[in-house]
Amino acid sequence: MSSRTVVGAARTRPCTVIVCRGCCCGNSRKHPGTDHQWQLDRLRAAAAESGGRLVVRTTDCLGPCGQANVIVVQPSAEGRLGGGRATWIGWALDDDCTSDILRWAVDGGPGVTDPPATLELQFIAAPGEARARTRGRGRNRARR
Ligand code: FES
Repeated sequence: MSSRTVVGAARTRPCTVIVCRGCCCGNSRKHPGTDHQWQLDRLRAAAAESGGRLVVRTTDCLGPCGQANVIVVQPSAEGRLGGGRATWIGWALDDDCTSDILRWAVDGGPGVTDPPATLELQFIAAPGEARARTRGRGRNRARR
């Protein structure tokens, strides 16, 4: 049994897919080869059919615009108890990537089931993690 206790709404929180739709993600001028609305429609349709196991939300710019489209898969309450953490996915521009995200999220997402191997290739660091890594590198260089 876990030593962590989850209370209230967090106890039943489903896997949540956060779809960036800021200045670059979802922008057909920046990424004309992608049907951004189709991508969002597919994700929302899957959420509607999931019986509450998957939620899809949109958000303004998440930060790493150079890796657009950015999608974050947040673990469900069960996934969080299983050690799952928010997973950032970059260059989510084609149908295959959207299918992989959907398959993973519907199957439970982070902390519940492993992601498709092809999707792992598109994992990116969250902006805070990237900054911490850069600071750490700078410190190591200074020590030499
Ligand atoms: S618009 Fe998506 S990361 Fe900036």
